[in-house]
Amino acid sequence: MTAVPSALRSSVRMCGSEEPCWGLSAPGPTLLLSLLLSAAPSGLLGEETRQVSLEVSPDWPVPHLLHIRAVGTNSTLHYVWSSLGPPAVLLVATNTPNSTLSIDWVRLLSSEPDGGLMVLPKDSIQFSSALVFTRLFEFDSTNTSDTAEKPPGKPYTPYSLANFSWSNITDSLDPATLSATFQGHPTHDPTRAFANGSLALRVQAFSRTSRPAQPPRLLHTADTCQLEVALVGASPRGNGSLFGLEVATVGQGPDCPSAQKRYSIDDEYTPAIFQMDQLLWGPLPSGFAQWRPVAFSQKQGGRDSAMHCQASPLYPTLAYLLPKSPIIQGFFGSRNNFCVFNLTFGASTGPGYWDQQYLSWSMVLGMGSPPVDALSPLVLSIMVVALGAPGLMMLAGGLFLLLGHKRHSEYQPIN
Ligand SMILES: *[C@@H]1O[C@H](CO)[C@@H](O)[C@H](O)[C@H]1NC(C)=O
Ligand SMILES: *[C@@H]1O[C@H](CO)[C@@H](O)[C@H](O)[C@H]1NC(C)=O
Ligand SMILES: *[C@@H]1O[C@H](CO)[C@@H](O)[C@H](O)[C@H]1NC(C)=O
Ligand SMILES: *[C@@H]1O[C@H](CO)[C@@H](O)[C@H](O)[C@H]1NC(C)=O
Ligand SMILES: *[C@@H]1O[C@H](CO)[C@@H](O)[C@H](O)[C@H]1NC(C)=O
Ligand SMILES: *[C@@H]1O[C@H](CO)[C@@H](O)[C@H](O)[C@H]1NC(C)=O
Repeated sequence: MTAVPSALRSSVRMCGSEEPCWGLSAPGPTLLLSLLLSAAPSGLLGEETRQVSLEVSPDWPVPHLLHIRAVGTNSTLHYVWSSLGPPAVLLVATNTPNSTLSIDWVRLLSSEPDGGLMVLPKDSIQFSSALVFTRLFEFDSTNTSDTAEKPPGKPYTPYSLANFSWSNITDSLDPATLSATFQGHPTHDPTRAFANGSLALRVQAFSRTSRPAQPPRLLHTADTCQLEVALVGASPRGNGSLFGLEVATVGQGPDCPSAQKRYSIDDEYTPAIFQMDQLLWGPLPSGFAQWRPVAFSQKQGGRDSAMHCQASPLYPTLAYLLPKSPIIQGFFGSRNNFCVFNLTFGASTGPGYWDQQYLSWSMVLGMGSPPVDALSPLVLSIMVVALGAPGLMMLAGGLFLLLGHKRHSEYQPIN
């Protein structure tokens, strides 16, 4: 732990022109107050635990599907991750501890997968949605100086993640950490860019609330899963290559999930990042995705390797423009409302993929209410000292008067 608390360090940090400055450098009093108020209830939240199991069956004809079942007292959450087609995750919340996943493999693997994947009983489903990771973008940023430019350089031909071949999920399954990794590379790779590289999607579930040691140290609960996307060792097509990811959402209504930004004055867990980006599928409790707008150019993520992660607005899109995901169509049928958004990682200056041919970014996905970062104890104590000194003096003064008066009145009867 450093001697100077990070919240204080950050508030005096200058935003230089060469250093991209994101987040808040000096929160105003209004923001501070609202943060104090919004931080209060999170301390009252109970620790909910779930019985979490990861299911990958050797009987399944393809080793590309992972079922995470998280059972609580009155509910079960199902996360179905799959790399059949583009990598995708299906989120289903039910109001019974007994709901199950049912797969009709013949139907799911056919050209009309509708109805091939169900969560039963159907009337226990309270919420369902999905995310699909459709394309990996690469941009040439060599001639772009404006970091806010969109796209952040000349786009190369994107990699369609539906045309990747993915490793056997069974081999990466780790019941101890409740994690598994989908690792893939383009099926057709004429330039051999992925000869020594891969794109990996590491999925982790949790049975209770905690926070990993690895940045960005996103808070997670038993209701959530974490996804870490890592691009490692792939040869970039230029020496100023920036990467991006296209993500599609599936919703029940025609509206796109709402994108929100939440600010905090506390960067104790993610140095220099004061923002949380969030997608909400509907009025709470529904589904959500949240992430810090940061990616890392080194495995040991830290301030030196932090890259800004920029999210575009969400736009509705037509299903036929996206690669088909059998699990999405199997569960939702063929009439769906898709929206898409882009994430881009890094800028032409600062740390980048070129440093070590490494890029990682993490998000938390869940159902229910999104976890809210409470202010860290260190920052809270600083605020008590900084903001509370005049208040404490007034309180002390008031007590003194009160006690003084009381003592005086107690003396009265004796006299
Ligand atoms: C579970 O359901 C029962 C009966 O419906 C209810 O009494 C109980 O409070 C619920 N428990 C939780 C944790 O929601
Ligand atoms: C970048 O600029 C240089 C010189 O200004 C030019 O030769 C080069 O073709 C440009 N590259 C791209 C990708 O535009
Ligand atoms: C996947 O890996 C498991 C365990 O290593 C093995 O039993 C299974 O046959 C593999 N599946 C395929 C399709 O290769
Ligand atoms: C892959 O790695 C091997 C050995 O480390 C190296 O010889 C080869 O040139 C690399 N290939 C590419 C395309 O980077
Ligand atoms: C960029 O890459 C080319 C080869 O692709 C190389 O000739 C050139 O020196 C590199 N430029 C810089 C500034 O590293
Ligand atoms: C995402 O980026 C690609 C490539 O730059 C662009 O064609 C597409 O319109 C972008 N989509 C959104 C939703 O911004």
